[in-house]
Amino acid sequence: MRKSSIPIVAVVLLGAAFSYFSLDDQLKEVIKKNDLKAYEKVPPLDSAKVELGRMLFFDKVLSGNRDISCATCHHPSLKSGDNLALAIGVGGFGLGETRVMGEDRERIPRNSPELFNRGAEEWHTMFWDGRVSGTPNTGFLSPADEKLPEGLDNVLAAQAMFPVTSRDEMRGEIGDTDIFGEQNELSLISNAAPQSVWHALMQRLLAIPEYRQLFKQAYPQIPQNKLGFQHAANAIAAFEIKEFTFVDSPWDRYLRGDLSALNDSAKRGALLFYGKANCAGCHAGNLLTDQQFHNIGVAQFGPGNENAAPLDAGRFAETGNPKDRFAFRTPPLRNVAISGPWMHNGAYIRLEDAIRHHLNPMKALVDYDIEQLSPELRLTLKNDPTVIARMLSNLDAGVSSSISLEDKEVEDLLAFMESLTDSSAMNLNRLMPNAVPSKLPVEEITPYRRYKNY
Ligand code: HEC
Ligand code: HEC
Repeated sequence: MRKSSIPIVAVVLLGAAFSYFSLDDQLKEVIKKNDLKAYEKVPPLDSAKVELGRMLFFDKVLSGNRDISCATCHHPSLKSGDNLALAIGVGGFGLGETRVMGEDRERIPRNSPELFNRGAEEWHTMFWDGRVSGTPNTGFLSPADEKLPEGLDNVLAAQAMFPVTSRDEMRGEIGDTDIFGEQNELSLISNAAPQSVWHALMQRLLAIPEYRQLFKQAYPQIPQNKLGFQHAANAIAAFEIKEFTFVDSPWDRYLRGDLSALNDSAKRGALLFYGKANCAGCHAGNLLTDQQFHNIGVAQFGPGNENAAPLDAGRFAETGNPKDRFAFRTPPLRNVAISGPWMHNGAYIRLEDAIRHHLNPMKALVDYDIEQLSPELRLTLKNDPTVIARMLSNLDAGVSSSISLEDKEVEDLLAFMESLTDSSAMNLNRLMPNAVPSKLPVEEITPYRRYKNY
């Protein structure tokens, strides 16, 4: 008995050891082939700029009616998002999943994305439809064309010029009054003159002594009359880069050589992601996005966007190229497990469903479960056969042939997605200032709701 059991135990142990090493060996190949690297910290940022940016990010004085800040839709307590499928802008009340729309307002047609790691050097595309893009070297493309000022530090700063000009997000409609009943002077400016909005906003900010001081500390070499909203935008971007960059997910630790950072399920998930599940066909490179636009057939609901309304044609509105119809930018995936609801319109409240969607988009679109939408959004679902046929007619080739995965394999993919979470991104309440220079209230989530999942 004793004699014969030893070799059996040895064989079992050897076998286990062999398969353990082989997962890592296979992954080593994948990592090499895809040239994957851990996400690295950005170079240090000027702290005076970061502090100015923090104030601006949380200050509702940036909005026409003084009722909404960047943080309303990108709140640290909500993982830099808002927990809503579609964002609620000017006129809304509350924060997070209990936020409600003001009278006679509409939803923003898109989901507020998380803001993680957008300061990476490789980032060059902002918004779900990429309408702001570029680098400081190549210059920036944006809806403001030549009116966009020079001197923007990066694409994140270029992006920060736009929420304040958007009537629905922050600026307000003609005839709006602010929360004190005063005229909203920003709303009176023509849509064709974004430069006048930026100018008027700087007047608002520089009328507040504390902002004059903060701008002076951040830009000591620039006289006050030469300060423009691009300086505010650069500061907001510095804050976003400093506080929303996370480099220590288990996957990053694994890429740095700590083979114990992932469990076997996550390792199998990574192999599927870069292998037969073909996720890396689009979620490519170190940011887990190719920053390109693909129609993967996500259900349409909400008010719709621009000329395509009540549909949202995504990238098509920017390029007019039929192949871009219903295409949205591939989202990055670091911290994806904590940043739902998922997709450009928050169509899914379960990460597993967002993953399964890709395996058979046609089925996912036809069988879309509207229970996960708020009652008001359910009424706006556009799922008649003509719409579905149009969407499926130019489905991206990367998802057009259905992939069959066993339930266990989907679990492994999920485990890999979870391994992309840096645990220090889970609780960001420390980013909130106690007060902002305008003395407008800083929005906070009550402790009960702060930890609730949607
Ligand atoms: C009303 C809610 C709302 C407010 C207020 C708001 N955002 Fe957003 N933000 C969104 C939505 C929705 C999108 C996606 C819009 C789209 O793609 O068309 C977005 C997109 C972004 C992006 C692009 C991320 C990416 O991956 O492309 C950044 C960065 C960002 N917002 C930062 C800010 C900053 C900075 C402010 C304040 C100046 C701000 N937002 C104000 C809702 C909001
Ligand atoms: C053809 C390109 C493509 C392929 C292949 C692909 N994706 Fe995606 N993925 C996208 C696009 C584009 C979106 C956003 C679509 C939208 O919102 O309309 C997305 C969204 C997601 C989301 C939601 C993220 C968020 O922040 O909302 C997850 C999670 C995801 N993909 C994971 C995967 C996994 C896992 C695979 C492999 C099974 C995969 N993707 C394969 C292009 C792709």
